[in-house]
Amino acid sequence: MIAAPREWEVDPQILAAGQRVLELFASVQGAPEQFPLWYASDLIDARTQDPASMPEHGQSLDDTLAHAVELMKQGLCNVSHPLYFGYISPRPHPAAVLGDFLGSALNQTPGAWRAGPSATMVEVEVLHALRSLFGLEPVVGRLPGGVFTGGGTLANLIGLKLAREQLYRQHPERLRSGGLKPRIYMSREGHFSVAKALDVLGFATDALVEIDTDEQGALLPEQLEQRLAHDVASGYTPMCLIGVLGTTATGAIDPLQHIGELARRYDAWFHIDGAAGLALAALPEARRHMSGLRDADSVTFDPCKWMFASFGIGCLLVRNGELLGGSFWAGGPYWEERGELDTFKMNLYGTRQFRSLGVWCLLQHLGLDGYRKLLRNMTGAAAHLRALMATDPGYCLIPDQQIMPVVAFRPVGASADLVTRLVALCQQRNLAYPSVLEWKGERYIRVAISNYQTTLADVERFKHALDELLYEFSPSPLLRIPL
Ligand SMILES: Cc1ncc(COP(=O)(O)O)c(C=O)c1O
Repeated sequence: MIAAPREWEVDPQILAAGQRVLELFASVQGAPEQFPLWYASDLIDARTQDPASMPEHGQSLDDTLAHAVELMKQGLCNVSHPLYFGYISPRPHPAAVLGDFLGSALNQTPGAWRAGPSATMVEVEVLHALRSLFGLEPVVGRLPGGVFTGGGTLANLIGLKLAREQLYRQHPERLRSGGLKPRIYMSREGHFSVAKALDVLGFATDALVEIDTDEQGALLPEQLEQRLAHDVASGYTPMCLIGVLGTTATGAIDPLQHIGELARRYDAWFHIDGAAGLALAALPEARRHMSGLRDADSVTFDPCKWMFASFGIGCLLVRNGELLGGSFWAGGPYWEERGELDTFKMNLYGTRQFRSLGVWCLLQHLGLDGYRKLLRNMTGAAAHLRALMATDPGYCLIPDQQIMPVVAFRPVGASADLVTRLVALCQQRNLAYPSVLEWKGERYIRVAISNYQTTLADVERFKHALDELLYEFSPSPLLRIPL
């Protein structure tokens, strides 16, 4: 006898346990200042050294999530707090978080049409939207103009792999004879992920040439030009020129147009690392300072920075997706070819998390104009802090291009130790969470605004708190120097 079909109902356990998660999420978002900027209880510390084992017998879903929620509260870096100024870790936007949750909950992958048709469609749509938002050239070829990755490191790696393939196509003879000596050029302020990627791709450490920067942290093009001429005369082949669009330390933008021209002159690949800074290309007033962006062969972008997605989503944008298709063939006897769009054939990843749904939800919810407003909240708060520091003779600023929401300064005459102590005290007393920056032989306090809800009043609060701390160290302003 065939059993009657099972009756299904909405699982009440999921709703109850999910409610706990949503409650914590909504309260961190809605009232971020009720949680400390950074906190780790002794228990979290102890269990990191001595991990607890998993229970032999399980518990209810509700109890499990109650436990997980409690653990999160006991060791939280509160990036949603308006005075969190560390490391370009954004307050995640609820639309992005909930979109990610939806993608994970249904376990869709955008890696293959048959495993996620809507996921594949959303991914193509988001890539298209990003290219257009940042003013990149329209895509050529039938494949999408980019791929999503787990972050900027992997996006840089894939960009460099494409650069290597171009080099090999250009120099088959020298490749065969072993006489090819490739070189990659980037400023000293470029991100360490490039060196890691080159290592993984099998390049020797001296393949990466670092070029000095000006006082703002932007690559010196004359030095690049001289180095290229010298290297070519010495038998090296420029494989890739990298322009940084928004350095991690100070948010500097390299002279992209100049670097692009040099790349063309030397037949080298032109890659832009805009992991953080490309977001600002959405603002016409900032994009004016990014000429040359459209000439790039590949561009790295992390939506988990100033596009307010949670950590772990990056992408590489390329004008010609066919190059990615040619770079990453994949298939097997178990994979029947159907002529569908399978993005695992143009990416290092096979099965992949569906993170573009969060970005899709964010852009749908805010609209492009709404997104620009959030960016302007951050650049406005950074400009205000810059102005406060510039008009106070007690502080000196690192001169910056005033485009990215990153500001670095130090109290005049402060020793390096004092700067470290001030930053630590800000964190310990729950006043703010800036970071320490070593810059051209001096130590600075660095503020990266990545929270679209940080207001002008918040940066004023921060400045006031710093002034008070300084006063503690030296009650009379006249005695402030040297500290
Ligand atoms: C300019 C730049 N490039 C690349 C990366 C690496 O990105 P991820 O940490 O997402 O791998 C970062 C990270 O901060 C960055 O600032």
